[in-house]
Amino acid sequence: MAKKPHSKIEQAKIVLEKNWQGSFTIPCEGLYPFQWNWDSGFIALGWAHINMDRAKQEIRSLLSGQWKNGFIPHILFHNESDSYFPGPEVHASYLSPHSPALKTSGITQPPVLGFVLEECFKISHNEELDFVREVFDAIYHNHHYFYTNRDPKNEGLVYICHNWEAGTDNTPVWDEIWKDLESPEYQLDRRDTKHVDASNRPSNREYQHYIHLIELFKSWKYDDGLIASNGPFLIQDPLFNAMLIKSNESLINLGNLLEKKEQVSQLRRWQQKAKESFNKKLYSKELGTYVYYDLRNERHLNYVSSSSFAPLFAGVPNQEIAEEMVRWYFEKGTFSGNKGQFLLCASFDPKSTSFDPKRYWRGPVWINLNWIIYRGLLRYGMKDVAEKIKHDTMYVLNKFGFYEYFDPRKEVLNTLDKGYGGNNFSWSAALYIDMLKNTNL
Ligand code: GLC
Repeated sequence: MAKKPHSKIEQAKIVLEKNWQGSFTIPCEGLYPFQWNWDSGFIALGWAHINMDRAKQEIRSLLSGQWKNGFIPHILFHNESDSYFPGPEVHASYLSPHSPALKTSGITQPPVLGFVLEECFKISHNEELDFVREVFDAIYHNHHYFYTNRDPKNEGLVYICHNWEAGTDNTPVWDEIWKDLESPEYQLDRRDTKHVDASNRPSNREYQHYIHLIELFKSWKYDDGLIASNGPFLIQDPLFNAMLIKSNESLINLGNLLEKKEQVSQLRRWQQKAKESFNKKLYSKELGTYVYYDLRNERHLNYVSSSSFAPLFAGVPNQEIAEEMVRWYFEKGTFSGNKGQFLLCASFDPKSTSFDPKRYWRGPVWINLNWIIYRGLLRYGMKDVAEKIKHDTMYVLNKFGFYEYFDPRKEVLNTLDKGYGGNNFSWSAALYIDMLKNTNL
C-alpha cells in the first residue's frame, strides 16, 4: 500500500526537525548555517507547540551568546561552516571587551525574545513559570542595554547601526543611505548566490556597503559610543522599535508574575516614553503610517514598507489611526492593490518605482512580517483583514512549501511552482504551525 503523504503540518515539523542541530535550529540548510537571533525567536514559537523542551533550548542557546553588557548578537557561530559569508573571522567579535568566548557577530537583530517568552508561557498553559524565571533577567538586561546604549537623545527610541540589524536587509529605504556612502569596492566571497538565484538577493554593491559598516565597527572595537558619534547608518526603525515595545509589554506582564517590582517599574517608564515618542516622531500624517528616522542626517525617510505596520502588534497607534491605516493600505489600497491584485503583505510599497517583487526585502511577502501584522490586526479587533492576511499566508505555504519569501503578485503566482530564496526555511514552518495551532486569539 502506498504510504500516506505527510500532512502540511507534519511537513512543517519535519523542516524544524531537519534544521535542528542538537541545541538550536538553523534558519536554512546551506544558506544560513548558524544560529540567527530573531529567527530563533520565531522558531521557538513553532517548537513550543510540538516540543517545549526544544523551544526552551533554542532560547537558552541564543542567550549563551549574550555579551556582558546585555547585547545579543545577530549570529552565533556555535558550529563551523564554510557555506556562509561573512563568517566569524569577518565579524571578529573578540575585538569588543564585552564579547563572550563564543564567536558571534557584533551587530544585533529585532528584539523579539520578550514576547516570544510570553507566547511560549501561554502555549504551555502557564506551566513554564520556572523557565520564565530562569531567563527573565537576561532578557531584561538586553532591554537595559538598548535603552542605555542605543538612545543617545533619551527619547525612548533606539537606533540600529547596520541594515542587517533591521532584519529587512536590502529594503529600498536604505538606498538613501548607500547613495552617500563611499564604500571601498571589496572583492566579496559571496556564498548566498551559490545557493539562490542572484536576482532574488541583494546586489554586490549593497554587500560592499554592508561589509564596509562592519569594517568601521571593527576599527572602533564595536564601541557603542564611537558608533553613535561616527556611524554613517543610524536609523530609528519602526519594526525594530515595535519589537522592543512589544517585548517590554511582555516583560512587564511576566515581571508582575515573578514580582520583579523594580524591573517592572523601569520597564513601564521606558515603555511610556517609547510609545509617546514613536507616535510623535515616527508617525507620518501625510502617509498615514509609520516611517523611519535617520538620526545621523536628522531627516525622515518617508517610505512605506511592511515594517510600517509592525507598530500594530505593539499597540502603538490609537484605534482610529490603526483603522485608517489598515483601510488605506490593506483594503483596496496600496498594499492590496486597487483591484486586489496583491497578496498581503508585500515587504515594500508596491506603488514605488523601487518595488521589486522578486528581490528579497524589496517587495516579496515574508512570513514573519505577516505573522506580526496578523497579530497586530487581531489586537485592534480587525478580524476580517486579519483573516485575509492569514489566508494569504496559508495560501502560499500550502501551495509552494516553506520557502523564505514569495512573490506578492497574484497573477504571477499562478504561473510559478515555487517560492523564492531558501526552501525548508525554519521560521516559515514554525509560524505556519503557530498560525494553525494558536486558535484562541
Ligand atoms: C536574512 C534575513 C534576516 C534573517 C536571516 C536568517 O538575512 O533578511 O531577517 O534573520 O536571513 O534567516
